[in-house]
Amino acid sequence: MTAIDRGPAHTSTVAVIGTGTMGQGIAQVALVAGHPVRLYDAAPGRADHAVGAIAARLGRLVDKGRLTAADRDAALGRLAPVAAIEELAGAELAIEAILEELGAKQELFTALESVVPDHCLLATNTSSLSVTAVAGALRLPDRFIGLHFFNPAPLLPLVEVVRGAATDQAAADRAYATVAAWGKTPVRCADTPGFIVNRLARPFYAEAFRVHEERAADPATIDAVLRESGGFRMGPFELTDLIGQDVNEAVTRSVWESFFHDPKFTPSLAQRQLVDAGRHGRKSGHGWFDHAEDAPRPAPHTAEPCEAPDKVVLHGDLGPAAALVGLIEEAGITVVREPRSAAGHLVLPDGTPLSLTDGSPATADRAARIHFDLALDYRSASRIALAPSGAASPESVRTAIGLFQALGKQVSVVRDVPGMIVARTVAMLVDFALDAVAREVASPQDVDTAMRSGVNYPRGPLEWGEELGARWVRDTLRRLHDSYPTGRYAPSQALIRRAALQEELL
Ligand SMILES: NC(=O)c1ccc[n+]([C@@H]2O[C@H](COP(=O)([O-])OP(=O)(O)OC[C@H]3O[C@@H](n4cnc5c(N)ncnc54)[C@H](O)[C@@H]3O)[C@@H](O)[C@H]2O)c1
Repeated sequence: MTAIDRGPAHTSTVAVIGTGTMGQGIAQVALVAGHPVRLYDAAPGRADHAVGAIAARLGRLVDKGRLTAADRDAALGRLAPVAAIEELAGAELAIEAILEELGAKQELFTALESVVPDHCLLATNTSSLSVTAVAGALRLPDRFIGLHFFNPAPLLPLVEVVRGAATDQAAADRAYATVAAWGKTPVRCADTPGFIVNRLARPFYAEAFRVHEERAADPATIDAVLRESGGFRMGPFELTDLIGQDVNEAVTRSVWESFFHDPKFTPSLAQRQLVDAGRHGRKSGHGWFDHAEDAPRPAPHTAEPCEAPDKVVLHGDLGPAAALVGLIEEAGITVVREPRSAAGHLVLPDGTPLSLTDGSPATADRAARIHFDLALDYRSASRIALAPSGAASPESVRTAIGLFQALGKQVSVVRDVPGMIVARTVAMLVDFALDAVAREVASPQDVDTAMRSGVNYPRGPLEWGEELGARWVRDTLRRLHDSYPTGRYAPSQALIRRAALQEELL
């Protein structure tokens, strides 16, 4: 057994260095889990301030009945600020949450290394630096690990346990076990830009911003479609206003720069302008939306009531939208089946085809055509987006609106963009996830856990991909790539292999 194998039991001392937002949250988690915790901050008085802030937070937990007063008092008895790094000598786990700067972190860990025992696990809470790089200057880099908590650490369960190039397996296992014992949801991941969540979530923001930059719909409508059709808890515009545009844009830019400007990660010009203008979101009173107290909350564009058709013709099957057929029949609308057709679609009484977006624009030629967007679950979706081609008549658009309204849906008509809103977002999320798994960033299970638990996705991207079918995702991205040949939408090799495998099995 190596020294590292003996890693922190719950009675061992945890040192937290950097006692700002994250340090305080992490310290609270370790404290409530039973550890003695020592706090150190370079700025005089900040560690003492952190003790007060943690005491206040534990007090609120007592008020809410989630912690007994005795447990609070015992926890606070285990908490102490220290004035010098040498006073961290007894720590068996040291977690750093200082400013996000490689040189500062390397310097800190070099100093810390000569103070703590050789079996002390050293962890960084960095969100954007390479764990391998931070460990670069260490004498014993094998006991160095990334422990990426999310803000607020006491509330959010996910912790990414990041193994750098030199990290020992035993150190990674101990860190994982410790965080699990703290009641968190740890996932293992390799040292890659953005780790799991910040890497795989990029398209959720970027696709929405691109759709908006093309003026296909306004932020409130795009948010509503992703929430009410895509099943996401919040839309990307309202969510980035909450996170802070500066914070979200910095993550995007850092991941993009780390990948040497790979077009799959290109940031948004519109978001950059918001940041430059100081419109950082709720905290500055204005972001994509105006957050002044009396400011009206913009409503999504929603179509007025329209008359439903009494029948539609179904050609082939609707693929990921197949559940619509049963819903249409339940609404009392006759579905006439025409099975001999390759690409599944519906036909309205005036002859206009209505189909799930396949990644191509509805306006590919002079034909009248209407696309509708992907939904997480067509039965529970309360909103559907429609994109008519240039040649679709206002009457046929009204009939398509009426059809979805007859199913109990609100309808948002958006300008025709390839892949619409939900379909292009989900296709990209699935591709990013498959690519990351193929590159051994994380296991399939940890990828889905991270995205459900870390950013509340309604379904893990891999599970979603299985349901949609890799061929559908690949073909959707190929058509998006035809429309935007920058490389951004080129399907990954992992997706291509998966789709080929699916074809072989048919
Ligand atoms: N805020 C978040 O949402 C979030 C989420 C995950 C990870 N992180 C990462 O956590 C780390 C801390 O972020 P934060 O938001 O808590 O920052 P913060 O600014 O709130 O706190 C940083 C603290 O570190 C102290 N500090 C700076 N240099 C130091 C040094 N050399 N030695 C000791 N203390 C020092 C500062 O005085 C300050 O109190 C960063 O690496 C950040 O990327 C932040």
